[in-house]
Amino acid sequence: MNAYVTGSTIRRLREARGLTQAGLAKLLDVSDKAVSKWETAKGFPDLTLLEPLSAALGVSVMELLSGDTVVNRNRSANLLRSRFYVCPICGNVIHTTGEAVVSCCGVTLPPLEAEAPDDAHAITMEPVEDEQYVTIDHPMTKTHHISFLAYVTPDRFQLVKLYPEGPAACRFRFQRGGYLYLYCNHHGLMVRKL
Ligand SMILES: [Fe+2]
Repeated sequence: MNAYVTGSTIRRLREARGLTQAGLAKLLDVSDKAVSKWETAKGFPDLTLLEPLSAALGVSVMELLSGDTVVNRNRSANLLRSRFYVCPICGNVIHTTGEAVVSCCGVTLPPLEAEAPDDAHAITMEPVEDEQYVTIDHPMTKTHHISFLAYVTPDRFQLVKLYPEGPAACRFRFQRGGYLYLYCNHHGLMVRKL
């Protein structure tokens, strides 16, 4: 993440909006020269201008700061497009159903890329009543553990938070198909198609 909005981001978003420097300046009640200075890295927009600037450029303040713009064409939020973000500082787990710019503890978080589980994170499932009992044969120490399990189908999202010293297991109400995710604090996000 950029520490602050950059000139190249302002220029790119301004041009994408079809605005001239003068046009943007007028919207913000600043001089054309001020906009030109921002874009050529000779000055920064004042903090109080960030909100009006992002509104004028049609993005959120987070997008403006990060330089990443998010275009979600799928507004129906299919859960199979789920993305997971984990904050390395506080451990916060964030789930989105489309692209987003996600920030926690001052850090912009990338969406986690899921891999297929390896032998050290093998998933076992057994039916219990109308649920599935999911177990991961994996250590659950303070330093190395499974931090959550999630079961995702097109219309339902179930996430179970796991804790060190507890079992690496949980129950999910089961539907046909979907994806089972696990997150190991050392080895990252893994997914198995069911
Ligand atoms: Fe692991």
